[in-house]
Amino acid sequence: MALNKARLDRFLAQYCQISRKDVRLMLAKNRVQINGVIAHDIDEIIDTFSHITLDGQVIQENAAHYIMLNKPIGVVSATRDKEHKTVIDLLDYSFKDELHIVGRLDLNTSGLVLMTNDSRWSERLTLPEHKVIKRYSVTLKDKLNEEYISAFAKGMYFEFEDITTKPAKLTILSDYQAEVELVEGRYHQIKRMFGRFRNTVTALHRCSIGTLELDNTLEPAASRHLTEWEVHNVDKL
Ligand code: URA
Repeated sequence: MALNKARLDRFLAQYCQISRKDVRLMLAKNRVQINGVIAHDIDEIIDTFSHITLDGQVIQENAAHYIMLNKPIGVVSATRDKEHKTVIDLLDYSFKDELHIVGRLDLNTSGLVLMTNDSRWSERLTLPEHKVIKRYSVTLKDKLNEEYISAFAKGMYFEFEDITTKPAKLTILSDYQAEVELVEGRYHQIKRMFGRFRNTVTALHRCSIGTLELDNTLEPAASRHLTEWEVHNVDKL
């Protein structure tokens, strides 16, 4: 859902089909509440998720939803797909069709996927300039060495998109295991970066986005709502 903003008087004039002068009168009589507080200002800015009542009757009550899923391998990060089960198919919420995915994972990647209907929140997490770190655990076919670390940190030129990847942090955990931190999400980015060394990624798992770790009590395919703290602090490092 796009997070539309509007001035209160415009919204009420349109909703009630009355003039803005009549909206002023309506507010003067304390007939309107926004998020439980009596509204007085005609130029108050409201958005898609403002809870608005008129004479005690709800006239807008769209709620924002924030979901974390432990995506299993073989499930596609899309809202619809003819061939595979989608991340939306795994959910059991009445509002699930309102949700969009905050940073997709490949079909054979597992781990943390966030979904929401709040596009302003998802933008904060996905725009590379906001530098929200996505952390992945990677298993490789061939042995790692120190050269990988500097190559990831320097960035790699991707001819197809004509971009150089932003500095990425690679930590070697063992001969075949690494942790990679990215602030962007280019198409097949991690696989392509290891591909420069002709090394194949045999398993890829997203462990965290910003401050938010995948809840280790969630079995593959299970999901839960984010807490209010998680919603507000996910991009605060
Ligand atoms: N990099 C990839 O190659 N695949 C993913 O799913 C995520 C990051």
